[in-house]
Parts: sequence; C-alpha cells; structure tokens
Amino acid sequence: MEETQPPETGDSLRALNGPGECATMEPALKKNLDALFDQFSEHWSPRIVAELNGQHVKLVKFQGPFVWHQHDDADEMFLVHRGSFRMEFRDRHVELGVGDFLVVPRGVEHRPVADAEVEVILFEPAGTVNTGDVADEKTVAEPERL
Ligand code: NI
Repeated sequence: MEETQPPETGDSLRALNGPGECATMEPALKKNLDALFDQFSEHWSPRIVAELNGQHVKLVKFQGPFVWHQHDDADEMFLVHRGSFRMEFRDRHVELGVGDFLVVPRGVEHRPVADAEVEVILFEPAGTVNTGDVADEKTVAEPERL
C-alpha cells in the first residue's frame, strides 16, 4: 500500500513532533506510545504508526468481542500496552496483560475479547486487514496513519 495520507497538523501532533514537522512515516522520527494512544478513542479501528520491512506497526483500542477470523497469509503479533484481553482460539483461550504478547500464526482462527478497554500494539504485514477472511462491520481496509 503506497497510498499516503496528508499529515495531520493538530496541536497534539505539533507538540509531539515539533513545529513544521511531518508526522507521517518520517525516518528516525521519535514517537511515543502514550501520546499516540491519546489521539484516538474508537474501538476496533487500528492506526498505522510505523512501517518497516513490509510490516506495519499498528495501535488499536478495543473492548468487547471481535469477530472470529483468520489471516491466510499473515502472522499477527499482539502486544498489550495497557489493560488486558483474552485471545480466543477454537481449542483454548490465552489471557494477556500489560507487557504480554503473542503471535497468532497464519491460518489459525482467533478472536480477541476484552472485558474492559485495552490498548494493543500490532505487528503484521502491510495490507493485513483486521478481520482477515471475514467481511464485517468492524472491517477496516485502509487504516488511518498517525
Ligand atoms: Ni487477526
């Protein structure tokens, strides 16, 4: 995905990056997880915050159950920044708290479920769609960039 979005110029970004600096995918630009998570509140709507080696780093907040899905061609890493959630697989559940991470292998059906809001960092190939093989109201094909 080569599409680029115009950089945001909000006060929070200016404070984060300094005046006149582009907030989008600049090399060696320092970013801060807390500040980035403060910039959005929607659930199940991932934001792309970095790109490297064909992978995207995304931030997502969620609460409640997601949809069962799988990614046929992508392994997907989930790292908890704040809160906790449960990754459900068809044969077991895995509880994750702050600092915990797991990799969901390609082709494995999964469903994240959070009893309370959780902040999660995702690592996955660029272009990976959040709902994988399922089209759903929660599907976000083109995530916003922060
Ligand atoms: Ni997934």
